[in-house]
Amino acid sequence: MSGSILVTGGAGYIGSHTTVALLERGFDVVIADDLSNSSEESIERVKALTGRHVDFEEVDLTDIDALRKVFASYPISGAIHFAGLKAVGESVEQPLRYYRNNLVSTMNLLDVMAEHEAWDLVFSSSATVYGDPEVLPIPEEAKTGATNPYGRTKLMIEEICQDAAAADPRWRISLLRYFNPVGAHASGDIGEDPTGHPNNLVPFVMQVAVGRRDKVMVFGDDYDTADGTGVRDYIHVLDLAAGHIAALDHLEDGCDVFNLGTGNGASVLDIIQTTAEVSGQEIPYEVAPRRAGDIATSLADPTRANEKLEWRADRGLEVMLRDAWKWQSKNPWGFNPPPEAD
Ligand code: NAD
Ligand code: WQD
Repeated sequence: MSGSILVTGGAGYIGSHTTVALLERGFDVVIADDLSNSSEESIERVKALTGRHVDFEEVDLTDIDALRKVFASYPISGAIHFAGLKAVGESVEQPLRYYRNNLVSTMNLLDVMAEHEAWDLVFSSSATVYGDPEVLPIPEEAKTGATNPYGRTKLMIEEICQDAAAADPRWRISLLRYFNPVGAHASGDIGEDPTGHPNNLVPFVMQVAVGRRDKVMVFGDDYDTADGTGVRDYIHVLDLAAGHIAALDHLEDGCDVFNLGTGNGASVLDIIQTTAEVSGQEIPYEVAPRRAGDIATSLADPTRANEKLEWRADRGLEVMLRDAWKWQSKNPWGFNPPPEAD
């Protein structure tokens, strides 16, 4: 690889783990992040874990001049684009903020990459683009149809990338549709650190396990699943990080799309029970009404990524939750100091 890889959103959850994988593979990394949903401490931890230097630029990607300065400062040959807002409920309340942030950031990035003839791009899409799936497990060819503004930004960005690649054959783009990323680096030094009330199940369960919250609310136990609770395809964030390296290694002319998942499902009760086992903590829970917009089951068909990217997600649910617990128990307040120390 001739130049550096720009990791937008590299201070965040998936970006920090992918940066570790990139550094371990010998890539030079420049992170661009506005820290709107992350902490610079994660980058310090990444440096400590890998013993490597990482360049960091605090920029908002919606500011194209700031982004141009980043490209003028480093020999960037490609980008992994994680930066974006990702809370489904918030996107329903603040749709224009989501469209502006996610779409303008991406269009700016594509423009500035083209100006600098950096044509290699890996983009964080999401299984949310499948909406309520008609076929399980879900192949890439399945019908798409997002059900909220966040999901629609992902679909629109996928189409923008397809159109850019159709208009200029120099683009080499990989759209990665992640299923449900969980877990943390095995050191427990970096991990998922949501601000405020966690929207996602695993961070919530971990905060109950560590004593920050009293109980898990199980959103519905009357779905058409084995135990009545929602089933998802959870994937270890380290397997996901490896998927990005595989995507970079296998970039081809044009724009291709891949599911990154395991193909295995776990229910909400599986998550609660396995977390209790790996943490040795009691996880109280209570059944609550279904959450608006939720589906019964989401499962990836990862065959295409297995074959074309020569990549497979190997880590099972116990490893995912053991590593998430290691991070949470080592850092009960995430990257922040405990409230008493304020
Ligand atoms: P995250 O919030 O931890 O990371 C996103 C990072 O982007 C944050 O550090 C944030 O500060 C930064 N950012 C946001 N807007 C920015 C802007 N305008 N300019 C610069 N930086 C900006 O989220 P994550 O879980 O690591 O997700 C990374 C990507 O993967 C996102 O695009 C998300 O939509 C996508 N994704 C996440 C999941 C998931 O469940 N975590 C699933 C599917 C797809
Ligand atoms: C998992 C299961 C809930 C919280 C979301 C986004 C998706 C993607 C990943 C970015 C479901 C249940 C949850 C709780 C619960 N993100 N649950 N109690 O909804 O599959 O996907 O994150 O692209 O776009 O929609 O993940 O972790 O929120 O929920 O019972 O406190 O846990 O009903 O069955 P989801 P999740």
